[in-house]
Amino acid sequence: MNLSPVQLSYEEHGSGTPLVLLHGFPLNRSIWKPLIPLLSDTARLILPDLRGHGQSPAPEGTYTMREMAEDVYQLLNRLGLDRVVLGGHSMGGYVALAFAQAYPKRLAGLALIASHPAADTLEKRQSRLVQARQVRSRGQAKLASQMPAALTSNPVVAAQVSGMILANPKQGIVGALLGMAEREDTTRALASIQVPALVVAGSEDRIVSPETAVEFIGFFPRGWMVEAPGAGHLPMMETPEIVAAALRDLIRRA
Ligand code: MLT
Repeated sequence: MNLSPVQLSYEEHGSGTPLVLLHGFPLNRSIWKPLIPLLSDTARLILPDLRGHGQSPAPEGTYTMREMAEDVYQLLNRLGLDRVVLGGHSMGGYVALAFAQAYPKRLAGLALIASHPAADTLEKRQSRLVQARQVRSRGQAKLASQMPAALTSNPVVAAQVSGMILANPKQGIVGALLGMAEREDTTRALASIQVPALVVAGSEDRIVSPETAVEFIGFFPRGWMVEAPGAGHLPMMETPEIVAAALRDLIRRA
């Protein structure tokens, strides 16, 4: 496998169990900001920007989930971290699952937040390819104006998300779309993830509903779900107390 990892930009807060949190598409590490004051007495929070997002490098090409997981692996090595609790939001969850498959010994616990292990349907894959073409030719203004309303009903959160989308380089958005389109279904592989696995689902999430989470949670040997009442696709911004409490519990079990 020909992997070309990039050096991720990241920030760090607090002390305790290393907890690495990966943001979703097409956002950046600032989605985790509301969790910082709630977790920094328990966890050493490590918050990277994935490639193509925020302040990390944005190479041209397809960002496979495996390649993005390799970037995270290199970051852990750079920080001298052996085992970590790894959490991923949506696309960050796809990356966390790729990491879990490649480096199971580096994992002390796993959190999927508004995420799932399924591959894209054919229809979804095609819509990503169309979107990638549009972003490549016309930029991401349309995405930044339309996507936030699908993620949250909170206008303050929606405005923040829109700003994050606009600030990302367009080749980063394209690379992530192409990578998500070609990812494989990892549902069966969940059975080999031996560490405690938390799944957080927003009760109002229209992208990854609690019903979707219920469908795959049983594949984890040690999985459980926490539903965030009132949250959409961004529970860490919409209901941070619930997400922080769930992550504390995961750290305790890990
Ligand atoms: C995300 O929030 O990362 C995206 O909704 C993931 C996806 O499009 O599958």
